[in-house]
Amino acid sequence: MPETHHLRPRAHFTTASTWLNDPNGLVLVDGTYHLFFQTNPDGAVWGTMSWGHATSQDLITWVEQPVALRHNGSEAIYSGSVVVDHDNTSGFGEPSDDAPTLVAVYTSHYEPHAPRGGTEAQSLAWSRDGGTTWTTYPDNPVLDRGSSDFRDPKVFWHRPTASWVMVAVEALERQVVVYRSWDLRTWEHASTFGPAGSTEGVWECPDLFEVPVAGTDGTAWVLVASVGAGGPAGGSGTQWWVGSFDGVTFAPAGAGPPPVRWLDHGPDHYAAVSFDNTPGRRLMVGWAGNWAYATDVPTSPWVGVMSLAREVDLVRTSEGPALRQRPVLPAHADVARHTRAVPAEGVATLTLTTDEGRDPLVVTVDAAAGVLVLDRSRCGDQLGGPFSGVATAPLVAQAPAGPTVDVLVVVDGCVVEVYAQGGLVTLTAQVFPSAMLTTATWT
Ligand code: FRU
Repeated sequence: MPETHHLRPRAHFTTASTWLNDPNGLVLVDGTYHLFFQTNPDGAVWGTMSWGHATSQDLITWVEQPVALRHNGSEAIYSGSVVVDHDNTSGFGEPSDDAPTLVAVYTSHYEPHAPRGGTEAQSLAWSRDGGTTWTTYPDNPVLDRGSSDFRDPKVFWHRPTASWVMVAVEALERQVVVYRSWDLRTWEHASTFGPAGSTEGVWECPDLFEVPVAGTDGTAWVLVASVGAGGPAGGSGTQWWVGSFDGVTFAPAGAGPPPVRWLDHGPDHYAAVSFDNTPGRRLMVGWAGNWAYATDVPTSPWVGVMSLAREVDLVRTSEGPALRQRPVLPAHADVARHTRAVPAEGVATLTLTTDEGRDPLVVTVDAAAGVLVLDRSRCGDQLGGPFSGVATAPLVAQAPAGPTVDVLVVVDGCVVEVYAQGGLVTLTAQVFPSAMLTTATWT
């Protein structure tokens, strides 16, 4: 396939020439952001899954690094997380080390012919040089339920109970399972959440974190789980719950089953998880992709793109606590930004096209009807599945931001992110126009 230079984003991470899906092991170490990710080191199709690696100072300009953890023929390296083991609880560090040890907790996906074939269990690797080189733990796996679909461990330090907490999924059961540990090597079961909310698709890539509730002194816990089907725009999507967490059990807020809430209402925002070790800030990155058509994406020589990093907190609204996501988008980020403040009863439409007026991508903010709509059905290459559907996001009825509905549309090669109402509503989509979308018209 000829190279698609015009679709290469400048502020969203893509690999040079390989396949990419979920972000893994997001961690800030000594001023450098590390992004590990699901990749196939051998090509631009899903397979021989491994952890790729990229680093950045500003979350915009990424430098791809050598593959960190590689498929070894009998075991694929599926999604997981990295923690900074400040107190060397794992014992993987040495007293002479001048930096804390990083510990990666990932899913070993055992190939059918291998010992444990057809199962998934959780394994460890560590780095004593700030994430450059990794050693796998000889006693892997450290947590094995004998399950075929037990994966995607996200680990964090829970200060009040002075313990490590892992959330992972039993994907087919639509459950998030919670485990605790004091040394990262041995784990005990704490609780199980689900099925709940959207259960049409398998559950994958959970996260659990505490964030401030803006305008109050309080905090709340957010549980995230991606779902492989039944998402808000068709295909995969990411749901979240708000509640409390005592180190053992996540309890959703309110009485009765909580409503389904989507992190992003676009078709392309999946497997979003947060960084470890960013004190005072909660930063998430998602894969701007959808399993319904991910393998048909016509970019070359790379396939797969990450979302922007987003700073996340909660905001009280008339509809209860809403998750706010604000993009990390410094002035030097080389992307097109289109902004508008739409009056409460108004409608504004942004049409983006190529120089020649082709391949329209249409974003409509209908404040009167209370919806944000993205229509890519005439914008360039159309893929299978739900790709050509129109994505609609409900606006928050009484957002604290005020009477107008503000909207920011970020266009960067093959990916478009829309933020409305100060980030209370987001919508992310891939687009494959025949040339760059350089022309913008508001009506
Ligand atoms: C989510 C996912 C994970 C798995 C990884 C494999 O997109 O299916 O559950 O660990 O991708 O690449």
